[in-house]
Amino acid sequence: MNAEDLRLLAREARDELDSANTLEALEAFRVAYLGRKGKIARLFESLKEASAEERRTLGRELNEVKTAIEGKTKQKQISFSAEARKKDTFFDPTLPGLRRPLGRIHPLTQTIREITGIFERLGFEVVDGPEVETEFHNFTALNIPADHPSRDSFATFYTQTGERESPSLLRSQTSTVQIRVMQKRKPPLRVIAPGRVYRPDPVDASHSFMFHQIEGLMVDDRTTFSELKGVLQFFLRRLFGPETKIRFRPHFFPFTEPSAEVDVSCFLCQAKGCSVCGGKGWLELLGAGSVHPLVFEQVGYDPKRVQGFAFGLGVERIAMLRHGIPDIRMFFENDIRFLKQF
Ligand code: DAH
Repeated sequence: MNAEDLRLLAREARDELDSANTLEALEAFRVAYLGRKGKIARLFESLKEASAEERRTLGRELNEVKTAIEGKTKQKQISFSAEARKKDTFFDPTLPGLRRPLGRIHPLTQTIREITGIFERLGFEVVDGPEVETEFHNFTALNIPADHPSRDSFATFYTQTGERESPSLLRSQTSTVQIRVMQKRKPPLRVIAPGRVYRPDPVDASHSFMFHQIEGLMVDDRTTFSELKGVLQFFLRRLFGPETKIRFRPHFFPFTEPSAEVDVSCFLCQAKGCSVCGGKGWLELLGAGSVHPLVFEQVGYDPKRVQGFAFGLGVERIAMLRHGIPDIRMFFENDIRFLKQF
């Protein structure tokens, strides 16, 4: 090999590289020139025959030519591949986009928020209490003594029994929060307490071992039964519509005296009687009453100086009535087909 051979090779390579206009042509060029048996390798081979002096200068020049060709080949490869990729990913703006599924608020949470929202407008504050409770808060302080038969209907899950003064249990009612709030604060009080409760009921379409209640409590130096009626009427009309009628039936609860069960006129049939109200025209919705003096004594309030009312309602029942849900178990099965309807 001599200097002339080298110049020739360099020119030839440049021309061929310039005219390689596809990825395939470029690859053919690469093999022909830069491959293990390519033209450049062969020139290196033939350097062996040159003199030591020539070998040094020609060797250096040949190396420079090789590096230049390699660089340019690589560059063209990159730009050709980018173009090819662009063609593959043709963007079609008329195709439907990818929809990400949006989460939803659970229908029970929606119901709780709606109900507490109405009471907040009346100046009630949302409070919370523990689900694992003491026997004292769940029963004794609510005027349900140890041997009282009404403990049976609230039979609950005990997590500890025996030696301890007040065993732990899963609360069977949110009325426990009345006691907790009154132990901590002085009147005037206006609180609303949503939460889970537990009862060892056999599970069926209308019973669950766990469900939700909302408890209300108002205490002041004078809080009358007619105020209870006014508050509940405002609430129930907000929830079921302005035409809703309400009805109080005498009832017994150990922690209120007098006590009542509160019904609303059926919002579906306007009290004419339908399948939702079982032909009765009325829906039983909540328990309520004036706070029993013995309950005030349990939390250290003077029953002669304070008056109060309380009420409690089941969240599932209200959600089922309003949405026409036939089975309480649907709330807890996590079936997306059910949940996405709300
Ligand atoms: N705790 C009662 C229950 O679980 C509901 C209830 C009734 C709550 C009357 C009250 C009330 O605050 O005054 O059945």
